[in-house]
Amino acid sequence: MPTWSFGKSMTSLNQQFDLIRQSATVAMADRILALKASGQPIIGLQVGDPDFATPPSVLDAALRAMQGGLTHYGPSSGYPDLRQAIAAKLQRDEGVAYDPGSEILVTHGGIHAYYTAMQAILNPGDEVLVPDPSWATHANMATMLRGQVVRVPAPAEHGFIPSLDAWEKALTPKSRVIVLNYPSNPTGAYPTREYLQALQELARVHDLWIVSDEVYGSLHYGDRPTSAAAVAGAKDRTLIVNSLSKTYAMTGWRVGFLAAPAQVIGNALKAGQNSITCVAPFIQKAAAFALSDPAIQQATADMRAAYGRRRAAVLRIAQDLGSTKVLVTPPQGAFYFFLDFRPLKRSSVEICERILDEAQVGLVPGSAFGEQGEGFVRMTIAASDEDVEAGFRKIVEWAERQSVEVR
Ligand SMILES: Cc1ncc(COP(=O)(O)O)c(C=O)c1O
Repeated sequence: MPTWSFGKSMTSLNQQFDLIRQSATVAMADRILALKASGQPIIGLQVGDPDFATPPSVLDAALRAMQGGLTHYGPSSGYPDLRQAIAAKLQRDEGVAYDPGSEILVTHGGIHAYYTAMQAILNPGDEVLVPDPSWATHANMATMLRGQVVRVPAPAEHGFIPSLDAWEKALTPKSRVIVLNYPSNPTGAYPTREYLQALQELARVHDLWIVSDEVYGSLHYGDRPTSAAAVAGAKDRTLIVNSLSKTYAMTGWRVGFLAAPAQVIGNALKAGQNSITCVAPFIQKAAAFALSDPAIQQATADMRAAYGRRRAAVLRIAQDLGSTKVLVTPPQGAFYFFLDFRPLKRSSVEICERILDEAQVGLVPGSAFGEQGEGFVRMTIAASDEDVEAGFRKIVEWAERQSVEVR
């Protein structure tokens, strides 16, 4: 046994992780699972996972690839036909041309696309501007990679999108990256093309990267959101994170992509090679099929229409019940409602715990997404029509039973 010491325990851990709190979401999810396991009839409106099955022909494509022998390592950057299909999708849907040979990387879902993007551009201490509220991983990943997270308020009063002033105010000489996620998880909000153009101009003046998480880009209830890379002069400083998870009901397949300038992809590929080697080859073949088969595009349009019907049903119920204790704003995109419980003047964790115990509906506290989410609760519509309608009624009825305390 050595008797010397380097001044710290030999078993010390990576202290970056002390800066990442296990979110209330995880604790809530555990409680919901435990209650369900004990036989309680919980309506689960907490998950961000489509309730639809992956289209069967995508399963067939994966099976064909497996039977054809694609059960070994594959190319780390992704098969050429998949990168071609991704480039075609980006051209078709976003109107942006990418070179499949040098500007696209196939990743292990959207979260890994975000990981490789941040690994590719971030140096320790760089400041990463993340809107508040936002999906927790946007800030956590930056922290994990030793960036400094700066939260930029996107309050309800501004439609959950930071004002250009708010971005400006957050800038310092160390600012390196702006993170966007539109349509947003948890609010469904997305900005106009003009806003994105102005933000890109700000990024140009201050020499910032824009990392844009567009995993909900195809889930919208009005005009299609503009991709952050689609405005003039944007492509060279923008990294697009996307995946098949939400649009194609393929969350468990773990396949996504990063579209970015070639020198960024060069670094991101090294991050991918040294973390996952490659995405499973048969999954890549299924993804190429899903992105290009016309019948699958129709299936995704049908899923979007179903979310649209559920959204309309929630709005109808909200209008019928006319609650003043839970306020409902129609989401522009994604598959969540960000319900405003601020009239109750209670924490969103308390509200979620009590709705779970007293109304048997599982939800996610808004505070899990940042300070600006306090007083809000995220409810998914990626659940059956019956669950969404019955669950939402229970939520409103619960809210109406509460007295408004003055604290
Ligand atoms: C905003 C956002 N980005 C990325 C992801 C992760 O996507 P994937 O399942 O493709 O990794 C999620 C999942 O909930 C999300 O909400």
